Amino acid sequence: MNICFVGFGNIAQAIIEGLFKSGMTTENIACIERNQQKIELLKEKNLRMIQLENLASENFDLILLAVKPKDALRTEKDIFDSAPESILITVVAGIALNKYSRPGSVIRSMPNTACAFGKGITGLYADDQKSHGFKNAIKLFSRTGHVLALENEGEMHRFTSIIGSGQAFLFQVLKVYLLELEKISFNDGNNLNDVFNHFVSSLGDSFAEEPDFENLINRIKSPGGTTQAGLESLENSELDKIFREAFEAAKNRSIEISNEQ
Ligand SMILES: NC(=O)c1ccc[n+]([C@@H]2O[C@H](COP(=O)([O-])OP(=O)(O)OC[C@H]3O[C@@H](n4cnc5c(N)ncnc54)[C@H](OP(=O)(O)O)[C@@H]3O)[C@@H](O)[C@H]2O)c1
Repeated sequence: MNICFVGFGNIAQAIIEGLFKSGMTTENIACIERNQQKIELLKEKNLRMIQLENLASENFDLILLAVKPKDALRTEKDIFDSAPESILITVVAGIALNKYSRPGSVIRSMPNTACAFGKGITGLYADDQKSHGFKNAIKLFSRTGHVLALENEGEMHRFTSIIGSGQAFLFQVLKVYLLELEKISFNDGNNLNDVFNHFVSSLGDSFAEEPDFENLINRIKSPGGTTQAGLESLENSELDKIFREAFEAAKNRSIEISNEQ
């Protein structure tokens, strides 16, 4: 499968790294980029650069649009003007298919940066999910982790808030943990980041072994104990509500971005 990325920013770099780890080579990937710093980075990584005008002559299976929302619609038009037969995957948050000039040739995707190490979760949506292009999109993102095809495009806002932005919310929570841990004085020379890495990855291991959070909590909690006290404090602070409100804020911003275009 041959792919061209338009925009080589944070998310494109994460996806490309994941694709390399899955066995794809620089031969399968090309990029179109306008930012000089990113162009230097492309050269460092030995990635092939092409010009938008030459898209049609290259016969890419998929073109991946990875620019900021403000640049998306103009760039999409330029891509189809240059290569009208293209199948485009957009990773751009918030812009609905009907805003693009050729919605029938566009697939929406919402990957996250964990694609870089094969642990991405990507939501995909297109009106026609039986098309060759959609199947190729599933194949592509499956190389970087799990793929979930959404039934309705409207669900993309909620998906973005939980899996896209939501990853950052958990980082924010874990930052609080690490800051608290750093307040403790230790005698040995352990690297706290390494220790904390164990702690974070053990959460995933625990869930893989027992996918019921109540059971996992009950294994730690004993009546009248320290965990019980902390959990009660979280409940009093309405933790669930805090997170639901954060998801809602991110979802609403996604809807706003959609309406701004
Ligand atoms: N970051 C994430 O975790 C994430 C996750 C899922 C989805 N997304 C979506 O992915 C998109 C890209 O985000 P990002 O953080 O990767 O952005 P980014 O780091 O700003 O990268 C975008 C790159 O595309 C370049 N560009 C813009 N228009 C171009 C054009 N017509 N031709 C060639 N290059 C062009 C930009 O150049 P300039 O610097 O000159 O503008 C920039 O270098 C966003 O729409 C976002 O919603 C991001």
